[in-house]
Amino acid sequence: MGISRTIGVFDSGVGGLSVLHHIRAALPDARLIYIADSAHVPYGDKQPAYIEQRSHTLTRFLIEQGADAIVIACNTATAAAAASLRGRHQLPIIGMEPAVKPAVAATKSGVVGVLATVGTLESARFAALLEKYAGNVKIVTQGCPGLVELVERGDLHSAEARRLVERYTAPLLQAGADTFILGCTHYPFLAPLIGEVAGGHISLVDTGTAVARELKRRVDTELPPHVRLGMVGSENFYTSGDAGHATRIVSSLWGRSITVQVLPSQFS
Ligand code: DGL
Repeated sequence: MGISRTIGVFDSGVGGLSVLHHIRAALPDARLIYIADSAHVPYGDKQPAYIEQRSHTLTRFLIEQGADAIVIACNTATAAAAASLRGRHQLPIIGMEPAVKPAVAATKSGVVGVLATVGTLESARFAALLEKYAGNVKIVTQGCPGLVELVERGDLHSAEARRLVERYTAPLLQAGADTFILGCTHYPFLAPLIGEVAGGHISLVDTGTAVARELKRRVDTELPPHVRLGMVGSENFYTSGDAGHATRIVSSLWGRSITVQVLPSQFS
């Protein structure tokens, strides 16, 4: 017998599963609890105060379920709520932000494109990130309304998906970008299509691996040591939306058949 670490993870919907894959690889024996806040998706066009309130509610649920650490698997919610969540809770809270620093280091053309939600691009946190890391590199930003909804429907390859991806990548290509930042956790699921549309010479960067690494570092250094004997990792999935729909999409994006439970009504 041993004590397993419990990691609470949330996103506006299923996008954070792109991060959860990296978390599972970094912490194979952890108990993972994931919430897709599907009743409130997309966050990208909502007011920061609304997203902040949702983030507090979801974090409360995760802590009630025994979370030892929280991952905000959403760039938009990190911008709106990470500071106030950290002000209220003592446990490690790991957020996400567009991968400006690695993209600036990687570009050869000196132009980096950022695909993200309007909420992320308009945030003070993103402005501070550019101020800190852009240097002499030209950063071209593109808000992408509609991409999150595609992923929420499990539509990763349709003609409509291709049209939207073409529309959003064209300005970045015209500006000479050779590196695209996937600044929303839903977009890694569209990476094959983005790569096809933009061309093989474009590098796509996201923050999933770095977040999982940072989570592991903080878990190892800040949480009391735990016993590993016989521990097997587990996952529990919740949604504030329709459980049947979420079960289908999460099973497909997670890569195995799982059941998504409905979040208790006081947290929806
Ligand atoms: N997946 C989220 C992000 O990383 C939020 C997308 C949305 O709901 O608009 O920004």
